Amino acid sequence: MSETAHVEEVSSEEPLGFVLSESTVIGIPIAFFSGEAEIATREEELVLIIDTHHNKAPLILGVLRYIRRLEPFLRRYQRVSVIDFPDAIDNVEKLPYTNGIVIPLAELKVNESGDEIVEINRNVTYVPFPGSKVYKIKQGSSLVNLLKRLLPDKAKPLVLGIHKYTPGLEIPLDPKYIPYHIGVFGATGMGKSRLVKVLIDEIVTKTDYAVIVFDHTGMDYTQFYPDSTLESLKVRLDPLTFSIWLVKKLRLSEYLVDYVDIAILEIFRDYHGSEWERVVKSINQTKDEEMMMALHSMLKDKITSTAGKLGAKDTTIYKLSILMDILVPPVELARVFVREYTAEQVLDMASQYKKLGKPLVIDLSLEDTLEAKRSVIASIIDAAWRRIMESRQKINLIVAVDEAQNYAWRAGRCEEGLTRIAREGRKWGFGLIIASQRLAGSVSTDIRANLNTVLFSKLSQTGDLNEIKQFADITGIEQSDLAQLVPREFYVAGLMNPLRKPIAIRVRKVE
Ligand SMILES: Nc1ncnc2c1ncn2[C@@H]1O[C@H](COP(=O)(O)OP(=O)(O)OP(=O)(O)O)[C@@H](O)[C@H]1O
Ligand SMILES: [Mg+2]
Repeated sequence: MSETAHVEEVSSEEPLGFVLSESTVIGIPIAFFSGEAEIATREEELVLIIDTHHNKAPLILGVLRYIRRLEPFLRRYQRVSVIDFPDAIDNVEKLPYTNGIVIPLAELKVNESGDEIVEINRNVTYVPFPGSKVYKIKQGSSLVNLLKRLLPDKAKPLVLGIHKYTPGLEIPLDPKYIPYHIGVFGATGMGKSRLVKVLIDEIVTKTDYAVIVFDHTGMDYTQFYPDSTLESLKVRLDPLTFSIWLVKKLRLSEYLVDYVDIAILEIFRDYHGSEWERVVKSINQTKDEEMMMALHSMLKDKITSTAGKLGAKDTTIYKLSILMDILVPPVELARVFVREYTAEQVLDMASQYKKLGKPLVIDLSLEDTLEAKRSVIASIIDAAWRRIMESRQKINLIVAVDEAQNYAWRAGRCEEGLTRIAREGRKWGFGLIIASQRLAGSVSTDIRANLNTVLFSKLSQTGDLNEIKQFADITGIEQSDLAQLVPREFYVAGLMNPLRKPIAIRVRKVE
């Protein structure tokens, strides 16, 4: 396919306006021709600025923002006589006009005859002259190949959807920056989970990365991937994670935590060929409640005897025993302790599903407690890090965490695991996708600061736009821009965006 684009294929026949004085490389004030262009044009539309008097001048591809309706007489901060004569409003002569600002996105080089775009450069250094004409971009398909030239060779770009106002303009996203982590933010119902679905489909089918997506409610992803969904109740927890779960269950003070930790570590150390293994196998096969009771009393014995061995007082030992009886029902214990797959096996599953072009979905909905859900995520992330450290090789794995407010903020080891990926994952091909309604109080600043691509829609808290501004360059996007978005529409900003300046996309429809 041609990598150039004909100007006339791309732009509207008639200009919608012209450039005013005081343009800079970051903002070009324009005036609209009165009439249809004024009425039909909307913020976020893409435009082409063509300087007909200087045929060597590059064209500017830009996005239209800050549309303002003005009138020389009806000034905002001036008392006008009409306010005393309401009937006069229809009779006074009005000279309304419309201005806007074009934010330059890229500089386009044209051939000698000026009818074909042959090069694109996102570093805009050319400032158009006043009087240059502004055309609406009416069709984007021939621009797509130009945009692709901003990505490194051979990379198959990810496509989540098309530009909000430009038919055919698929925005190619740079897969190189997937392991630089991605954040998806927006108020409830704006389509975050669907966007993440489209994103992970693109990743598993077009790149080398396997994807594990954690489904908090079991309602967002399991329905799309029934064949590659694993209930989290089948994922074994590592010793420390299990211990943390148990300590929470027993509501132990920190002085007693060691007794439990050590007991559990010993069980796991001596697990192979032990009575524990036999009981776990049998529960796995038969789901027999008596065996669950046996497991419970084995664990109680182990904890109390360990406490005794370590010099605990009789009262402490007795208390531990009672707490086990009251706070840890055998069925629940079995549900957490007796699980089929190790976290290592889960990683292998993810790679196998990847070969089939699917993500592995971990359905967390059946866990009783948030703590257990967190533990599953923590265990899998830990296993991935162990694998990386043992092999010293890239793991090529993306972990997607939706409803991240539960996992990425004050969430103990789970949050630590996610933070480690955010900080160090990049060089190991270990990436993160985080989706949440909110930023402040939902996703820790350490994680946020490492999200190098951000997709965001209408936000539920006004302060959250400023939160995004602190780690992503979203210059020019204001609350009023977000207010214009409807479900499925997101701004994409950051490294994966070939233009690097935020643009609005409409996410592909998920059936
Ligand atoms: N890309 C899409 N294709 C088709 N329908 C969509 C798309 N995006 C959103 N929707 C519709 O909007 C609804 C809400 O989308 P989604 O569940 O992704 O929102 P959300 O932002 O994740 O909300 P919440 O914060 O409540 O989880 C979906 O059930 C679906 O009907
Ligand atoms: Mg959702």
